[in-house]
Amino acid sequence: MWQPAERKKHALPLVTWPTQEQAQRARWFSPCPLGPRTAQTRTWVPAMVPWRATEDGFVTDDVVDWYCRFAKGRPGVLVVEATGIRDVPSGPLLRIGHDRFVEGLSRLTSAVREASGGHTLLLIQLIDFLAIRRRPERTKYFARFLALTQAHRAALAQVTGDDSWRSAEDSAVRLALEAQPAEVLEKILSARELEDLSHGYRERVTDLHLPHIRELPQVLPGLFADAAERAIAAGFDGVELHYAHAYTMASFLSARNTRADGYGGAREQRVRLPLEVAAAVRARVSGRGVVGCRYLGDEVIADGNRVDDAAWFGVELARAGLDFLSISKGGKFEDAKQPKVGGSAYPYTGESGYECMPTIYSDERGPFARNVSLAATIRAAVRAAGLTTPIVTAGGICDPAAAEQALAQGDADFVASARQTLADPDWFEKVRQGRGAAVRRCEFTNYCEALDQHHKQVTCKLWDRLELTDPTVKLAADGKRRLVAPPDRP
Ligand SMILES: Cc1cc2nc3c(=O)[nH]c(=O)nc-3n(C[C@H](O)[C@H](O)[C@H](O)COP(=O)(O)O)c2cc1C
Ligand code: SF4
Repeated sequence: MWQPAERKKHALPLVTWPTQEQAQRARWFSPCPLGPRTAQTRTWVPAMVPWRATEDGFVTDDVVDWYCRFAKGRPGVLVVEATGIRDVPSGPLLRIGHDRFVEGLSRLTSAVREASGGHTLLLIQLIDFLAIRRRPERTKYFARFLALTQAHRAALAQVTGDDSWRSAEDSAVRLALEAQPAEVLEKILSARELEDLSHGYRERVTDLHLPHIRELPQVLPGLFADAAERAIAAGFDGVELHYAHAYTMASFLSARNTRADGYGGAREQRVRLPLEVAAAVRARVSGRGVVGCRYLGDEVIADGNRVDDAAWFGVELARAGLDFLSISKGGKFEDAKQPKVGGSAYPYTGESGYECMPTIYSDERGPFARNVSLAATIRAAVRAAGLTTPIVTAGGICDPAAAEQALAQGDADFVASARQTLADPDWFEKVRQGRGAAVRRCEFTNYCEALDQHHKQVTCKLWDRLELTDPTVKLAADGKRRLVAPPDRP
């Protein structure tokens, strides 16, 4: 993963854990209205993909166990991982693109409700993503994937000074291209073709020559609305529309979206599809469940959105009636590291990925509560527009005092913790009961994120080797790690 040049190692914040009385009075443990529901506390577990669904995207016992484990810590809101809205194969990622998925998801919502004693609102994150392929072997790329054109032939003829390439056999041209050194290929292939070769082919929302990309604005509102309908049927308290990171909807919002069909270019056009999706979803489920979105306070990539764009979008999304705005940062493909041959680009390997899940190897500012200012700017803009939409902040929060400060200053209405809650799913309860000293503290070195990158079942290094000989402990596919944290033993 990318790291700031300073690579300064930060110690975990010194925490003064609140007493039970202090915790009871804390804003973090006070209720907050969320659309048609009320969250009992302002604690929030954002989406985390654990790689536990079946290859066909169905809920498994391991999926149920994973969310029930979080539910036992009684967060105010728990968001189920990014779940695909289409009925297409997508490996062991949860899916909600057909009614056949509702039964398993219903099992999940019932189990979570019971595990939290009804204290936790359960949302599901709805995602659409575009096709991405593995980095090809060089030979295969030139033999099969490159769409050979007359322009390639002409460029080859020019750089070699040999005009016969203009009419040579396809196979000969392909072999000749494969033999060219990088500096020559740069003169022959387009920037996009060079990236297909070096990182693997990846669709963009700007690929208007592809009919299915051109038609995204016609197709996505219906797909998201259908998925939201299924989520409500399955018993979720609502949905979080995934408008963040490297995926389709974030790419529409992106300043890099140059679509010329009215859905790209100026901010007004970039936000158009996200608003149309939100309207379709609200028309279908509003009043029956919470409808919010997660999007980026800063894309972090060159020529991407900055917080002023995000604040403008926030006002538009809030005005459109969304019940919350959850603010994330970065996590883009554009600056992802080059994968190995046969591997896929992973959008959390570059600087934008670092900013999404910052580690203790950081710059002067360090990783803790690093992204709160983005939420604060967006919240201020939304409030200035006269709207009361709750704003959720996340990023390196592992200290109740930091959460309290963000709430007291009016930077956010909910404070979310992903990795700290993975490290200790009981930590909200421990803090609430004045047992903060017993919290297992996240070390922010991203072992969990590396597992996600390699599509392995996600666990935490602080507990996944504990009590492995207990026959009731379920192990990961590698047989070496337990799948959920040990129980809280006060
Ligand atoms: C293993 C893992 C999986 C994640 N999966 C998702 C996801 O499905 N959707 C999403 O919006 N964010 C996802 N995230 C990002 C987190 O929700 C969160 O924004 C990020 O980890 C920063 O918060 P933290 O510092 O509290 O961990 C994931 C993070 C981790 C560590
Ligand atoms: S694996 Fe590391 S970064 Fe991830 S939750 Fe555990 S301690 Fe935190």
